[in-house]
Amino acid sequence: MSRANPYTYQSFVADYYDYLPPVAGRQDLDFYLEVGRTQGEPILELGCGTGRVLLHMAQAGLRAVGLDLSEPMLARCRAKLENQPAAVRDRVRLVHGDMTDFQLRETFRLINIPFRPFQHLLAVEQQLGCLRCARRHLAPGGRLVVDFFQTDARRMHDPAFMQESSPHPEVALPDGTRVRLAERVAAFHRAEQCNDVELVYYVTHPDGRAERLVFAFTLRYFFRYEVEHLLARCGFRVVELFGNFDRSALRDDSPEMIFVAEKEGS
Ligand SMILES: C[S@@+](CC[C@H](N)C(=O)[O-])C[C@H]1O[C@@H](n2cnc3c(N)ncnc32)[C@H](O)[C@@H]1O
Repeated sequence: MSRANPYTYQSFVADYYDYLPPVAGRQDLDFYLEVGRTQGEPILELGCGTGRVLLHMAQAGLRAVGLDLSEPMLARCRAKLENQPAAVRDRVRLVHGDMTDFQLRETFRLINIPFRPFQHLLAVEQQLGCLRCARRHLAPGGRLVVDFFQTDARRMHDPAFMQESSPHPEVALPDGTRVRLAERVAAFHRAEQCNDVELVYYVTHPDGRAERLVFAFTLRYFFRYEVEHLLARCGFRVVELFGNFDRSALRDDSPEMIFVAEKEGS
């Protein structure tokens, strides 16, 4: 797979991220917290972004390290952390790094990859690199949790998805900025199991100035058994597989694929 991954979360993506309906409405926090409480600390989150899940863990009393490649996303996370009580701040460490190749000199009871950072890893070598690094950083009895969307076959080819659509309502930020998110598939690459995607931000600033900003990136889609094979290649065994964050089983119409894995032989 030779497609370059030009992907980077720019500043405007980080600035608006937490407020957008697909993010603010995501129902995964209770699930990740429950796994965190069961597994215990410390927790590592790969692709922690603005700390949406990471800070939830720390606020609940769990020590957590967050790693991300995007400086703007980490900057948002740091800013949110500064507004937290000292006890919460003390539980969090942020690392600027690549989840395909990292060395933290610490092991973890739980490694989370929430809200699909793994789907930004386009090349199999990157995917293997990430899982192998994760395995090296798991403490005995530790678990890895990684979520994906379950691929809707129509999104692999249907030209209807190339039309810009805006299923989400406009949202208002605390400073009065208003943002409406739209999305489209710019290109299908079925042979490489990825789509070029555009997230389009229609922004109205408090002074009335309007902007159209585009976050363009390539997103890899995965299938259930492919993930199981990838995990097995890297020395993991799947212990639970859910189709949604209510812990329901994976079915044809499940929106998510949530894998809970442990080291083979542990
Ligand atoms: C959709 S966000 C998810 C953020 C957070 N986990 C959450 O649940 O809100 C994906 C994140 O993955 C990060 N990411 C993508 N590729 C990465 C890589 N190779 N190494 C580290 N972080 C990466 C992005 O910078 C971004 O912050």
